[in-house]
Amino acid sequence: MFKINQKYKIHWEITDICNVKCPMCPRTDIVNYCRAVKEIETTQFFLDDVKRLFPDKFLEKITRIDFCGNFGDPCMAQEFYEICEFLVKNYNITIMASTNGSMRNPAWWKKFGELLADTESWFEFHIDGLRDTNHLYRIGANWDKIMENVEAFIAGGAQADWHYILFKHNQHQLAEAHALAHDMGFDHFVPTLSSRFPHGGKYRFLHPSGDMVDLERATISIPHKIEKPGTGQPHKSHTSVAEKDPNINCKSASKNRFFLDSRGYISPCCWVTNRDVKRPGDMLKALTKAGKDIDDYNIRNKSIEEILTDDLFTETFPALWLSDDLATCRKKCGDKRLNYKVKLRLE
Ligand SMILES: C[S@@+](CC[C@H](N)C(=O)[O-])C[C@H]1O[C@@H](n2cnc3c(N)ncnc32)[C@H](O)[C@@H]1O
Ligand code: SF4
Ligand code: SF4
Repeated sequence: MFKINQKYKIHWEITDICNVKCPMCPRTDIVNYCRAVKEIETTQFFLDDVKRLFPDKFLEKITRIDFCGNFGDPCMAQEFYEICEFLVKNYNITIMASTNGSMRNPAWWKKFGELLADTESWFEFHIDGLRDTNHLYRIGANWDKIMENVEAFIAGGAQADWHYILFKHNQHQLAEAHALAHDMGFDHFVPTLSSRFPHGGKYRFLHPSGDMVDLERATISIPHKIEKPGTGQPHKSHTSVAEKDPNINCKSASKNRFFLDSRGYISPCCWVTNRDVKRPGDMLKALTKAGKDIDDYNIRNKSIEEILTDDLFTETFPALWLSDDLATCRKKCGDKRLNYKVKLRLE
């Protein structure tokens, strides 16, 4: 699956800590007032861990790190800035970070923007609505804080994209959010239709207030042509980011990109991990088939390249794909049920 003679990419969940409670996030327990599910261990990497666990020669082979993950927000990791500074300044690694943007203060965000200025790196701010709607999904997020943080980050000189998950409650604000993204200096605006709604289009959860609330699927489709703010003209270009492929075509193998969770476990991708909370575990299936112990895939116990060249990845997974035995792989990298999104360049 992974090629040690080629450059690597990492999808890294640097922490499982978060400051907000999005109901459809796997960290959120929707029958327990949106508190964190019991699997959360509040783990994170510190700069010392990175220096100790990633050999210099390995870091030289990394071209890009996507800081996202299943259970946390990278900007909640205590030394996230220091870790990125170390990776960018010493190894010239391109950084992407996905965040709700509602933590820390503008000085921290400005410093981060300056670190990433004039590089290929960028942040994705996940802001699903405007002042009166963003918190209906991003429960606990503070609108004013997000706005001042984003302003500071962009003023620092880095690239930023605004990702906007569409719900029935925020679909009427799409054009306004798009115009605001343009005025604030975002680089892209990315409206997204979530694949996480069950059949029927309603997702019920117990809100921290004690009320039962229904999230409702958007009733509009993503407009392919959104007017360029203030011009009356459509955007010149957009990129559709939904593909179809009837066979299993492992995205991690083709990108030489592995997933590292906040406790140090390596797995092929964020969909196939040993901490599946809301879906059956294909990682566990592969481990059982190969007769392996999960703790041998933790970088705190073994070297990274020893793990990446283990026969679990070189033999077991490819064999399971051939026999079409991994439901998640079929769903994610075979016939698709992905989020549908369109990336609009803001000029
Ligand atoms: C667990 S989050 C980690 C990163 C960060 N905390 C964030 O929210 O951007 C992983 C990804 O899931 C996305 N996500 C959250 N709720 C979603 C939903 N209902 N549908 C599709 N994607 C969702 C987030 O926006 C983020 O890109
Ligand atoms: S901000 Fe990200 S990690 Fe936090 S609850 Fe929302 S989706 Fe989950
Ligand atoms: S879902 Fe399966 S096939 Fe797709 S990237 Fe993950 S491991 Fe590879």
